[in-house]
Amino acid sequence: MAPEIDNPKGKVGVLIPGLCGAVSTTFMAGVELVRRNIKKPYGSLTQMQTIRIGKRTEHRNPLIKDFVPLANLDDLVFGGWDIFDMNAYEGAKKAGVLRNEDLEKVKDFMETIHPMKGVFNQYYVKKLNGDYIKQWGSKLELANEVMEDIKEFKKESGVDRLVTVWAASTEIYIPPSEVHLSLENFERGLEENHKDISPSMIYAYAALKSGVPFINGAPGTTVDFPAMYELADKMHVPIAGKDFKTGQTLMKTIIAPGLKARMLGIDGWFSTNILGNRDGEVLDDPESFKSKETSKLSVLETILQPDMYPDLYGHLYHKVRINYYPPRGDNKEGWDNIDIFGWLGYPMQIKINFLCRDSILAAPVVLDLVLFMDLAQRAHLKGIQEWLSFYFKSPMVAPGLYPENDLFIQHTKLKNFLRYLMGEELITHLGVEYYDLR
Ligand SMILES: NC(=O)c1ccc[n+]([C@@H]2O[C@H](COP(=O)([O-])OP(=O)(O)OC[C@H]3O[C@@H](n4cnc5c(N)ncnc54)[C@H](O)[C@@H]3O)[C@@H](O)[C@H]2O)c1
Repeated sequence: MAPEIDNPKGKVGVLIPGLCGAVSTTFMAGVELVRRNIKKPYGSLTQMQTIRIGKRTEHRNPLIKDFVPLANLDDLVFGGWDIFDMNAYEGAKKAGVLRNEDLEKVKDFMETIHPMKGVFNQYYVKKLNGDYIKQWGSKLELANEVMEDIKEFKKESGVDRLVTVWAASTEIYIPPSEVHLSLENFERGLEENHKDISPSMIYAYAALKSGVPFINGAPGTTVDFPAMYELADKMHVPIAGKDFKTGQTLMKTIIAPGLKARMLGIDGWFSTNILGNRDGEVLDDPESFKSKETSKLSVLETILQPDMYPDLYGHLYHKVRINYYPPRGDNKEGWDNIDIFGWLGYPMQIKINFLCRDSILAAPVVLDLVLFMDLAQRAHLKGIQEWLSFYFKSPMVAPGLYPENDLFIQHTKLKNFLRYLMGEELITHLGVEYYDLR
């Protein structure tokens, strides 16, 4: 049975911790450039992709946005938090992603977006030192303040519903511990200022408590532990994460499934990057890098399944490096060297040199996630939204399941989920109906 979906009437508030960063400002300026008909939303499935419905002979291929009832771009209203006192135009200038000629066309709009004071503590992001922050009281008080902010924003902006997206800096790696195991433990931890509760967790808790969906764009544990699953269930809100899948990992999840499909072996996969934006600077700290490394390393394991294919992938050496190199700014350069082998074990090599633009790849991912999470909310879905794995480096899944990292499986899953939501037949690609086989 397909779920009931409420109509997307009214405005949607998009609340972003990290409002003035590179990803956020590139996303917001981009949405406004599209709304003003100046640019096209390349990279966004919700805006540009079609979906096949029914048999191939039926020729029904609507745009996704015409098939599922998504909010309109004109209905998005932006707000959020940062730890520096600047507006979104100043943030975008500092990030240096967009060309001046583009940014100036939406300057008036971007200057109207101003962050609320952030929840921050340098213990969790060593390389940053913001001065636009809430007074550091108990963590429970901070969560209450964020809940007040959410209420205030909703009232002042007149939006109908909200979605939160974490697009702030990567925090240190915090593996789940006792305090994360139940909501009761977590709430006690908030009162007692437990050190394993980071600012991103405080935002996530406040959002879920306010009945607002939460998307985690960074690799942190943030919303991916039992206490948050419990809260999402109790408040009946959807959650999704983690770590936007953009440059090198996107390539990895495109190429690895292809090599595996053809049973080509891999001895080693060495990935290195140079990156000069603030994200690169934050990741220069070994503790923040550890969060990113954990997220980046996990993809090959689940795609290649070395346990099932020990001859092909049992000895794979996988290494990921990120080097902070200021001259490059947001224009990251990634190199991959892949040592593969084929028939009779004969070795071959693949080299990939990806000159990408990090935030240009991330912005449409943010847009799609916001629109799909709003859809999930209106479809009355709760908990982990695994169908959105397509957009994440390290997808959240139900405890005990391994994540699907293969981009093509993720893509099929996403489209079938949309068909399921709309009560249409799922597509298996079996295709026997077109042939007289027996
Ligand atoms: N392609 C990509 O760009 C990409 C891909 C995957 C994940 N990410 C993640 O997205 C996040 C944002 O990336 P970015 O390039 O925009 O980084 P950025 O440094 O340009 O922006 C981060 C923003 O977050 C703010 N911030 C930091 N801590 C905060 C807090 N506790 N509360 C509120 N604001 C806070 C910073 O002041 C800054 O404005 C990072 O965690 C990054 O790892 C980015």
